[in-house]
Amino acid sequence: MTPLQTAELASTPTDWPSTTTMVDPATADTARISAPVSAVGSTVASAVNADRAIPARELSIVVPTFNESANVGELTRRLSEALRGIAWELVFVDDDSPDRTAESVRRLAEQDARVRVIQRIGRRGLSSACVEGVLATSAPFVAVMDADLQHDERLLPAMLQTLRRGGLDIAIGSRYVDGGQIGEWDEQRATISRLATRVSHAVVPAALKDPMSGFFMIRREAFMDRVHSLSALGFKILVDLFASGTQPLRFIELPYAFRARHAGQSKLDSHVAWDYGMLLIDKLIGRWIPARFVSFGLIGSAGVIVHMAVLAALFKPGFVSFQLGQALVAAVAMVFNFFVNNLLTYRDQRLRGARLLRGLASFMLVCSVGAVANVGVAQFLFSHEQGWVPAALIGIVVAAVWNFATSSFYTWGRRSG
Ligand code: GDD
Ligand code: MN
Repeated sequence: MTPLQTAELASTPTDWPSTTTMVDPATADTARISAPVSAVGSTVASAVNADRAIPARELSIVVPTFNESANVGELTRRLSEALRGIAWELVFVDDDSPDRTAESVRRLAEQDARVRVIQRIGRRGLSSACVEGVLATSAPFVAVMDADLQHDERLLPAMLQTLRRGGLDIAIGSRYVDGGQIGEWDEQRATISRLATRVSHAVVPAALKDPMSGFFMIRREAFMDRVHSLSALGFKILVDLFASGTQPLRFIELPYAFRARHAGQSKLDSHVAWDYGMLLIDKLIGRWIPARFVSFGLIGSAGVIVHMAVLAALFKPGFVSFQLGQALVAAVAMVFNFFVNNLLTYRDQRLRGARLLRGLASFMLVCSVGAVANVGVAQFLFSHEQGWVPAALIGIVVAAVWNFATSSFYTWGRRSG
C-alpha cells in the first residue's frame, strides 16, 4: 500500500476495514516507513504528519476487568464483528487480575492495534477503572461495558448513531424500558437491583429507568464536564455520572436483553452494597464530609461497641483490673477498626501480606496518639468550664479526625515497598 492510499483511508475513517486480517493504517508499517519526514519546526497540529499519523478513532470502548481472561478474546471478536465500518479502539482496564487478564489482552493487542490494556497495581474498583480508561482515550464518543458478554455489543452502533445525531449526551443500554430484559437473574438479585434503583432516585432523575446499568455510551465532552466531581467509588459509574456536574445529562435508554455471563464469576459481593451506600452518601453530603470519613466514623462507632463488650467480658468477672482491661480492650478495638476499615473504607486499596502487618502497626501508632489527644482535649475543655458531655464529644471528634486524616495518609496512602 502506498502512503497516498493510506492517506485516503485516513480521510474516511468510517470506511475503515474493521477486521483484524485487513490492513489497518494503524498497523501498516510499510506505509509508515516510506512516509516522508516533514513538518520539522512547525506547529504541533501540523507536526502530526498525515502520512505517519494513525487516524483518530470515533469510538473508544472501555472495559473494566478483573479475572476475565476467558472472556476478553471473545469480546474483542464480537466487537470487531458488531462495529464493522466504525473506527474504534478498545481499552481494557485490569486491576492486576490473578488470572493474568492483562497478559491475555496484550496477546490480543499483538494481533490488533486497536486493542490495549491499562494494568493497575494495588488498586481495585470498577468505577475508578472506567474513569481512568476513559481518560486514557480521546475519541469523541466513549462506551463502557462489561467484559463478560452480558452487555449486548450489537447495541453499540445504534447508540453511536443516536449520539451522532446530536442533542443528547448519553445513550444507555437499559433492561427496564420496553423491549429490555434482565435475563436469567434469580428473584433475589432482581429484587436487589430494583431496590438499588429506587434508592438511587435520591440522586439521579426518576425518569431514568436503569441507573444501575453498566452499559452506556457518552459524548466525551459531557464526560469531561463532570469528571472532576465524580466520586469513582464502587460499581455504579452511571449513578455517579448522573449525580455529578452542574448540567443534567440529556439521555436516552435503548432496550437490550441482559445475557448470561460467558465465563468466570461475577465480582458482585456483599461489599458492593456498602460501596453503593458510600457513593450515595458522597453524592449527597460529600461536598462537606468525605464519604470515607463517614465510613471510618461508622466503623469507629462499631469499635466502641466491641470495646464495651470485651471490657464487660474481662473486667466484670474480675479477670483484670479496670486499667489493664481498658488498655487491652483499646488495643482490641484498634485491631478491629483496622481490619474492618481495610475491608470496607479502603476496599479499593486494600492492604495485603507484609503491607497488612505494617499497616496495622502504623494504624495502632496513629490511634494511640489520637487517644492521647482525645483525653488531652477533653481534659482541657473540662477544666475550662465546659460541661463533661461537650468536652468528651469534642475530644472524640478531634481524635476521629486525627485518626482518619493521619491513617489515610500513613496507613493506606503510601505505596512504598
Ligand atoms: N478493573 C476492575 N476492577 N474491574 C472490575 C472490578 C474491579 O475491582 N470488579 C469488577 N470488574 C469488572 C468485571 O471483570 C466485569 O468486566 C465488570 O467489571 C462487571 O463485573 P461483574 O462481576 O460482571 O458484575 P455484574 O455482572 O454482577 O454487574 C454488572 O452489570 C450490572 C448490570 O448492567 C455491573 O456492570 C453492574 O454495575 C451493573 O449493574
Ligand atoms: Mn457481569
